[in-house]
Amino acid sequence: KNVAIIMGGFSSEYDISIKSGSVVHKHLNSKKYNSYPIYITKHSWYYLDENKIEHHVNKNDFSIQLNDEKIKFHAVFNAVHGTPGEDGILQAYFELLNIPHTSCDTYQSALTFNKRDLLSVLKPYGIKCATSYFLNLGDAVDATAIVEKVGLPCFVKANKAGSSFGISKVYEESELEEAIKKAFDEDDEIIIESFLDGTEVSVGVITYKGEVTVLPITEIVSENDFFDYEAKYEGKSQEITPARISQKQQNNVTEVAQYIYKTLKLKGFSRSEFIFIGDEPYLIEVNTTPGLTEESILPQQANIHGIDLPELFESALEEALK
Ligand code: DAL
Ligand code: MG
Repeated sequence: KNVAIIMGGFSSEYDISIKSGSVVHKHLNSKKYNSYPIYITKHSWYYLDENKIEHHVNKNDFSIQLNDEKIKFHAVFNAVHGTPGEDGILQAYFELLNIPHTSCDTYQSALTFNKRDLLSVLKPYGIKCATSYFLNLGDAVDATAIVEKVGLPCFVKANKAGSSFGISKVYEESELEEAIKKAFDEDDEIIIESFLDGTEVSVGVITYKGEVTVLPITEIVSENDFFDYEAKYEGKSQEITPARISQKQQNNVTEVAQYIYKTLKLKGFSRSEFIFIGDEPYLIEVNTTPGLTEESILPQQANIHGIDLPELFESALEEALK
């Protein structure tokens, strides 16, 4: 079967996506699948062959032409973080073309990628989250009102972004303006959240052999002030699996993470972040196209669960092809 491994995207997470996609390409069973790395960039979509030659993708049917042969794909393995791979745009395209893909469906992708909307949909189900304040680009900024609502310190975040791009931790009202400007560089919406002072954990939930499976939980201990880009990708954090949390905390967060996956009808991989206040997990966000390199959290969790990378990637494709 022909499988397109898509990577790249239009956001700041481009380079990370290339790493994820390359790891998928390296580990996907080559006896079962002919896999083709397909780069999705703002300017062009192309297959990069082993000689680094670019072959243009025909967007009408998502095919490529190699010499005299037209290659169409039976499935897409999605490794595009951020827009347009994690927010429903490519999902809608592949769904229109009837090409199965490994990620969530269009609506679920769009919803989970929008932090504000995700949290407001989940709140009535009893899922706890930080107090927040929302701003559209161009809105008047009332720093006093923001601080009154969310307190200090607080987090200023792009509403639709990943890998901590655009995030600042703000300690003083006077720092808000600059933090807001930085977040607006990533997105035209921002969310400002109260600081939750507690243990942070990352919970991978996948569909494996037809079953919704919660992977071993990872505790995040950042050497930096929070789990920022440097902490995530430049080794400035410890990721401890299994997390050093109580049985009660483990039961609670497992239940919530699984509940979110099932209630929202997620598919494929997901990795949700929580912070504990006492025994209660507060939801920070849900990533539906989590990092997939050897060092990334979800692959590590899968490994500890006894699922190696080839098995993890193959099972995702098999679920998509069902
Ligand atoms: N957005 C990054 C890739 C992650 O969630 O792992
Ligand atoms: Mg994220």
